[in-house]
Amino acid sequence: MENLSNLINQLQVTMSSNYENLLVKRIIDMAEKIQFGNENNLWTKTKFAILIEYIYKCEKRLKIQFELIKIRKKIWNNHFGVPTINFFKSFDHLFILNFEDFCKNFNNLYFNGDYQVDTHNAVLMGSQLTQINMPEAESNGLFIKTLNMQGYMTTQLDDFSKKFIQLCNERKQERLKVLEIGAAYGVVSLAAIQTGAYVFANDLSPEHLQIIHSQAENLANKNQADKLITLPGRFPEELEFEDNFFDAVLICRVLHFFTGEQIKLALGAIKKWLKPGGKIFIVVETPFLSNWKTFTPVFLERKTNGAEFPGELYNPKDFEKNRSNAIPNFIHFMDDDVLKKLLSSVGFEVADVAFINRAGQFPEDIILDGRESVGAIGIKGG
Ligand SMILES: C[S@@+](CC[C@H](N)C(=O)[O-])C[C@H]1O[C@@H](n2cnc3c(N)ncnc32)[C@H](O)[C@@H]1O
Repeated sequence: MENLSNLINQLQVTMSSNYENLLVKRIIDMAEKIQFGNENNLWTKTKFAILIEYIYKCEKRLKIQFELIKIRKKIWNNHFGVPTINFFKSFDHLFILNFEDFCKNFNNLYFNGDYQVDTHNAVLMGSQLTQINMPEAESNGLFIKTLNMQGYMTTQLDDFSKKFIQLCNERKQERLKVLEIGAAYGVVSLAAIQTGAYVFANDLSPEHLQIIHSQAENLANKNQADKLITLPGRFPEELEFEDNFFDAVLICRVLHFFTGEQIKLALGAIKKWLKPGGKIFIVVETPFLSNWKTFTPVFLERKTNGAEFPGELYNPKDFEKNRSNAIPNFIHFMDDDVLKKLLSSVGFEVADVAFINRAGQFPEDIILDGRESVGAIGIKGG
């Protein structure tokens, strides 16, 4: 533990300065000794994992973030590169502290009987997950606000999400391995595990996943909850899967938070993770929503002028006043042409692309003309 205290002292100096290289070197050395050397003390390993998580949360310098992601992926090698929700929830009271308070609390952390061993990941964690309630749906029953300003989850399934579940169902004997990115409260993931598929539910928010997890435990067939693997983390950079791992991936209403260039990288990662013949199901929002009507002509004009990504919008709040308080300061609308081109540009065969009529799925105030969302299915060639 003495080594960790030394590291903390070093950090105190380096976090407030520009000694990036020194900091990175110290952390990597420590990682080699504690995490990947012959350190067998689970408590030391756990404290190191907590420390890495804290620095990763605070650190804004890209170079250091990049190194920390690599270390984190090694620590959580048996959990697809990201901490478990149990680990997050056991120590999240520390991650929100300022550095001084974090150090005080970190140094006073001691191992007591409240912890249990996570044998799979060789760390300790609290023995109980606290219960979090899902927010109430809007009065229309269709939208539930996310807990992290990332828009809303829909309670009603669109045709592309249904096709994703249908695939799991049609091939239930094979027990497919499928990934849902940006699962929110898991309306699709929970349906997919009931087909017997192994469902990897990813979201930025550990709290969203905690809600899915407890809902899965309430399912009539408890064995199905074991088929749910919750992965809190930022897709794609924080996640780590072997190539050719998944049969299908669903990314529904998430890519509109990504720039065009980020989407290409993201689709490239999904393609690597899919098995040959595996399918990607995408749903994104279009500019044909009545609350974004002032942006529609801008989109169309940019498209006519040949813009590759006519729907990138860096000042959404200038165009929409009612619902944009629930989204970040960037939004990216796409239509069928843009989505098709994106899928083809990373080498997917485009099997289907169509507008989605959101009547009955989206609240009345945002419905326009039956083109509110657009979905696509891409196939990875063999
Ligand atoms: C608008 S909600 C959509 C939820 C659900 N898929 C649906 O279609 O209703 C977007 C969700 O994606 C998550 N999200 C956004 N960016 C993400 C990223 N880079 N990696 C993982 N999850 C992300 C958010 O936390 C949020 O829960």
